Amino acid sequence: MWPPLQVFILLLLGVAVQASEQNPCLDVRTAGFVCLNCTTLGYCVKDATGSWETISMLGCQSEHSFYCSDEGTYGCTWQAQCRVPKRGPFTCQQGGVFPDPYDCRRYHECSDLQVDTPRQCTNGAGYSTLTESCVLPRDSEQCLSAQFNCSRSGQVGGWNADTRYFYVCVNETAANNLYPLMMKCREGFVFENNACVPPELRNV
Ligand SMILES: *[C@@H]1O[C@H](CO)[C@@H](O)[C@H](O)[C@H]1NC(C)=O
Ligand SMILES: *[C@@H]1O[C@H](CO)[C@@H](O)[C@H](O)[C@H]1NC(C)=O
Ligand SMILES: *[C@@H]1O[C@H](CO)[C@@H](O)[C@H](O)[C@H]1NC(C)=O
Repeated sequence: MWPPLQVFILLLLGVAVQASEQNPCLDVRTAGFVCLNCTTLGYCVKDATGSWETISMLGCQSEHSFYCSDEGTYGCTWQAQCRVPKRGPFTCQQGGVFPDPYDCRRYHECSDLQVDTPRQCTNGAGYSTLTESCVLPRDSEQCLSAQFNCSRSGQVGGWNADTRYFYVCVNETAANNLYPLMMKCREGFVFENNACVPPELRNV
């Protein structure tokens, strides 16, 4: 574990740079303990000006299969493999409820003015847009692997778990990372062959 002074310096750096790579809580936007990555437990707080701060608290010995846990137990626990999802930015593109592309436990309520309210299942399960409830087993495909592929900007893909949703990959120049913007087809339409199609044109 780091001495407090170094933790403090790290905190200052994170706030100064304000890039989500140094400040994962900018992406998480939920107060409390959160695994920042496989080896670091952190704490997310909103400061007086309303911006998110990441406090890195604890490093796990991943070489001995101890990985960060923020479910039930906060800290480092022995795990066969790290289950901490790789996080990234989310911005609302339209009103509605959208799955978080990175973490199956999370979802986003987007207002018609595209204000995002991030939510997280508290029962340790994943969120299903089909049932609009926290019912996905954590060992389901949707929770175990990334549900999007972004290899170039402008790439479009369907959301396998719920064909009403799709994503468009964009390039965040600051971090030189591609990330998916989540979108939803119009009522009744589903995403097929790179487009939202009405029910009568669906392949059967
Ligand atoms: C994990 O996150 C912490 C805090 O953001 C960072 O200092 C550390 O380098 C990260 N570790 C890895 C392996 O990415
Ligand atoms: C992403 O691409 C890989 C390799 O082409 C493929 O195996 C995987 O199924 C794809 N995942 C999704 C969610 O489309
Ligand atoms: C993102 O955009 C920057 C600047 O236009 C470019 O240099 C970089 O190669 C792009 N990255 C990807 C992954 O497309």
